[in-house]
Amino acid sequence: MRNILDIIEKRWSPYSFSSGYIEDEKIETLMAAAGRAPSANNEQPWLFLYTTKENKEKFDVFLGFLTESNRVWAKNAYALIISFARLNSSYNGKPDRYAFHDTGMAVANLLTQASSMNIFIHQMGGYSIEKVRDYFKLKDDVEPVAVMAVGYIGDGTNIPEELHKRDEKRRPRKLLSEYSFKNNLPEDFKKEEL
Ligand SMILES: Cc1cc2nc3c(=O)[nH]c(=O)nc-3n(C[C@H](O)[C@H](O)[C@H](O)COP(=O)(O)O)c2cc1C
Repeated sequence: MRNILDIIEKRWSPYSFSSGYIEDEKIETLMAAAGRAPSANNEQPWLFLYTTKENKEKFDVFLGFLTESNRVWAKNAYALIISFARLNSSYNGKPDRYAFHDTGMAVANLLTQASSMNIFIHQMGGYSIEKVRDYFKLKDDVEPVAVMAVGYIGDGTNIPEELHKRDEKRRPRKLLSEYSFKNNLPEDFKKEEL
């Protein structure tokens, strides 16, 4: 019964990446998994843009979007992917309330597929949205969401010791009882009665 859960639980976000080459077909498989996500009105509001170490010039441009603290380790990844959400509906041009939600679901699929292929992904919100906007001359309703560092796991020798230490233990999760409820939400989440 746990089959997919095992793959989901295997995933974590490393700081250490090896220089291992990833074939384009494998990255396309990750993208195919992303594209199978459900979305409100079947809008499929996600866009993914990636570059790899094979194009050093472009890879360096992508690295330049990141904060210094992310660049220090993300430079070792084989590929960098930027996710974007189209904020307006393609049917009526009105704001699509679910654009970020649906883009996140596509990313979750991509992550699970990667986990099944022993490819690791570390997502980053630490980057300059303005730099991405300016560099790609984005329309107002195309919103950068996150940047992903993609690669095979490294041995920790190419990152600062402190980050290597962080890679040695997995990050904790809330207990199921803290986020999953049956029939009603706990009072903590409700307005106080007057
Ligand atoms: C949207 C998003 C933004 C994140 N931004 C950063 C970041 O800028 N730098 C970083 O080192 N990790 C970043 N992370 C990674 C999270 O810290 C990490 O996923 C979380 O602590 C859970 O750890 P795990 O992925 O190893 O299970 C980000 C994750 C997400 C989903």
